[in-house]
Amino acid sequence: MSRVLAVHGSPRGERSQTRRLTEIFLEAWLAAHPGAELTRREVGRAPMPHVGEPFVAAAFYPQPAARPLYMQADLALSDALVDELHGHELLVISAPMYNFSIPSGLKAWIDHVVRIGRTFDVIQDNGVAQYQPLLHGKRALIVTSRGGYGFGPDGANAAFNHADTLLRTALGFIGIEDVRVVAAEGEESDSQAYQASCAAAERELRELAMRL
Ligand SMILES: Cc1cc2nc3c(=O)[nH]c(=O)nc-3n(C[C@H](O)[C@H](O)[C@H](O)COP(=O)(O)O)c2cc1C
Repeated sequence: MSRVLAVHGSPRGERSQTRRLTEIFLEAWLAAHPGAELTRREVGRAPMPHVGEPFVAAAFYPQPAARPLYMQADLALSDALVDELHGHELLVISAPMYNFSIPSGLKAWIDHVVRIGRTFDVIQDNGVAQYQPLLHGKRALIVTSRGGYGFGPDGANAAFNHADTLLRTALGFIGIEDVRVVAAEGEESDSQAYQASCAAAERELRELAMRL
């Protein structure tokens, strides 16, 4: 069975462009995959706590199988989020560009799911740490919107785009290499230009729904 996990990263609700675009993809994808399951994870309007010292101490505890109960409790949220990620084949992240990166609620989700021993491992090779991804066979779609222009791979502001690169790198690090990005650009500029960019993104999303 196909299962999709939609992670909603925008702090905006009704007015969120990434939510609107993501719903277009999900509706088309669910129609193309009868019987498929959709799970939603809200991290934009209901941000989860940032990871702190208790998380770090518990996650990097030297004997994970013998973690004290209180440490297991400190990892409960992270465990639930990691289990959720393991349980879905397709990940769809709605991720507005915020200050050239992603909203902090979405970053907090990344910090909870990039977990040693659960989504990646470290192997010592002659004293040099080698990283090994633990997720396999998953794909991801990032649906983004930006106020400005030119943040795409060939754009004039590509070097300022730390949003797609952060998500691609973090997902690749845990084993999700197949990552597509669909973007609408220019929300803060002339409305006609943004509408044209959205229309192109909507076409791309409907087309991707048939292929993912
Ligand atoms: C706090 C904040 C920071 C932003 N930073 C950027 C930015 O660095 N570059 C950009 O092009 N747009 C930026 N924007 C504009 C958003 O990316 C744009 O409005 C996007 O469409 C929002 O997506 P949403 O409607 O799903 O929330 C920012 C908006 C906010 C509220």
